[in-house]
Amino acid sequence: MNKVTIAIAKGRLGEEGLRLFKDSDMEIVREENSRKLVFSDSKGLTQYIFVKPSDVVTYVEKGVADLGIVGKDIMLEEDKDVYEILDLDYGKCRFAIAGFKNECIKKKDGVLRIASKYPNYVQSIFENRNQRIEIIKLNGSVELAPLIDLSDVIVDIVETGNTLRDNGLEILEELDYISARLIANKASYRFKYNTIKKIEKILDVKR
Ligand code: PRP
Repeated sequence: MNKVTIAIAKGRLGEEGLRLFKDSDMEIVREENSRKLVFSDSKGLTQYIFVKPSDVVTYVEKGVADLGIVGKDIMLEEDKDVYEILDLDYGKCRFAIAGFKNECIKKKDGVLRIASKYPNYVQSIFENRNQRIEIIKLNGSVELAPLIDLSDVIVDIVETGNTLRDNGLEILEELDYISARLIANKASYRFKYNTIKKIEKILDVKR
């Protein structure tokens, strides 16, 4: 069997992904609180590398990792040349345009100011809307932007809706459905097909 390397997003999404490998040949045992970034399972079949969520697609596209577990939000933002092979059915949420209750997302003669962690995605959403926009790229706490008049609206992921509610904002328009996805490097998918199919099966049964 070919050894495969899987890029896992550090954080909740990755941890939940690792749980799907539990009780399989590919389960890894880690010491608690370890800051190690590379792990192998006991049989040496799989190597896991822990990377920043937005870097998972880069590692997979470059072939440093054969597979990756990543949120669809990152896939939509990064637009990388990889195969998306399985919806892992967890980490479910939505992209949405959000703002104050009566905020209009159509500014007839003006520019709509949009704060987001996902500038490329925002660009793609507004491409055919005949609306001039200014994208304000932020790295977090995006809900703050309309409150301090940095933007008119935000485009962000909404899971429970609590962050919006607690900041007096609401969904103005729902956009793409997001969840965790298994992705594969295109060459690896060809050359390590059997191993990848085995992993896909483990994950498909568990999800
Ligand atoms: C994400 C997202 C929203 C929030 C949505 O932020 O950007 O702010 O979670 O979740 P909710 O609908 O359940 O409230 P994250 O927690 O990653 O923090 P960040 O603002 O620092 O990016």
